[in-house]
Amino acid sequence: MNILVTGGAGYIGSHVVKQLGQAGHNIIVLDNLIKGFRNAVLYGELIVGNTGDKKLVEQILYGDKIDAVIHFAAFTVVPESVNDPLMYYANNTCNTRSLLKCCAKAGVKYFIFSSTATIYGNAITSGKLSEDRTVSPINPYGTSKLMSEWMLRDYCAVNDMNYVTLRYFNVAGADPDGEIGQSTPGATLLIKVACEVATGKRDKLKLFGTDYPTPDGTGIRDYIHVSDLAKAHVDALDYLKNGGESLLCNCGYGKGYSVRDVIKALNSLVDKPIEVEEQPRREGDPAYLVADPKIIKKKIGWKPEYDNLKTIVKTSLEWEKNPKY
Ligand SMILES: NC(=O)c1ccc[n+]([C@@H]2O[C@H](COP(=O)([O-])OP(=O)(O)OC[C@H]3O[C@@H](n4cnc5c(N)ncnc54)[C@H](O)[C@@H]3O)[C@@H](O)[C@H]2O)c1
Repeated sequence: MNILVTGGAGYIGSHVVKQLGQAGHNIIVLDNLIKGFRNAVLYGELIVGNTGDKKLVEQILYGDKIDAVIHFAAFTVVPESVNDPLMYYANNTCNTRSLLKCCAKAGVKYFIFSSTATIYGNAITSGKLSEDRTVSPINPYGTSKLMSEWMLRDYCAVNDMNYVTLRYFNVAGADPDGEIGQSTPGATLLIKVACEVATGKRDKLKLFGTDYPTPDGTGIRDYIHVSDLAKAHVDALDYLKNGGESLLCNCGYGKGYSVRDVIKALNSLVDKPIEVEEQPRREGDPAYLVADPKIIKKKIGWKPEYDNLKTIVKTSLEWEKNPKY
């Protein structure tokens, strides 16, 4: 299949590109390299440009006879979205609309969209989130992604394009071969930041919020290994190619770990415990996000391989010790 991967030089996109390349697909990556890395693109051709550049996008879609678009390109930092919401709506929502319009014109058949569990907001404080839960994002990042979900759904309802929207829970870890990993500048996600502390790149880990309504008072998340998430995209593409109908699914393991669980897992892998500084809650962070992954397993046949917190942290740590870019 001819596949356009937007944001394919970024953290998650590069892991998907690797698996698509290994599966023999023909890949074009479109990335403006604001947060991505040229060396992260192990397969296919990298075109440096913007998803909002209609002329460039149409040239790619027509010139390379693109069958499927996998759309990662977005800004992803929750606190930044709180401070500059319009920047998030411009890149995450308006550029997605522009990309969709180009796909419509060029007759692209399949679309896979990176959404996020953030859109559930503070829906639950225990149990698992299924896709039919009411969505109620509590930060502009989540809203910007939810609007894109809805545009995609509405467009596909009346056109000959099918989609899979994957709502990722907390993505972490790195390629077990050590070829690619997360080097995103200014990352704010817990496991990445904790591994930066463990390798001396930061002084301490700021633990935001110790008074959440959770057993140890810290936020609970469903951490998913990036290579398992990448596999979900390859499986979703096969599902669409085999005639699957448009689908929305959660992408997580269905297990929740607190911030303190993550620190414990990391400390078991290093000589000296990392320094932690407790801070008040950070605006825009829900207390508890755990996926119900029934749909993705049943409909797409996704089978995770790295469903273990220590493995996730270990691969992140190994990348942090020996990053390739
Ligand atoms: N990391 C997570 O835990 C997580 C969780 C849920 C959803 N997501 C979603 O997954 C996707 C990928 O996230 P990531 O963690 O790999 O982030 P990332 O920043 O590493 O990757 C995003 C890539 O998109 C590129 N980009 C951004 N805007 C662009 C534009 N307008 N045109 C072209 N390229 C552009 C960046 O340069 C970067 O390489 C995002 O859509 C994000 O919302 C991530």
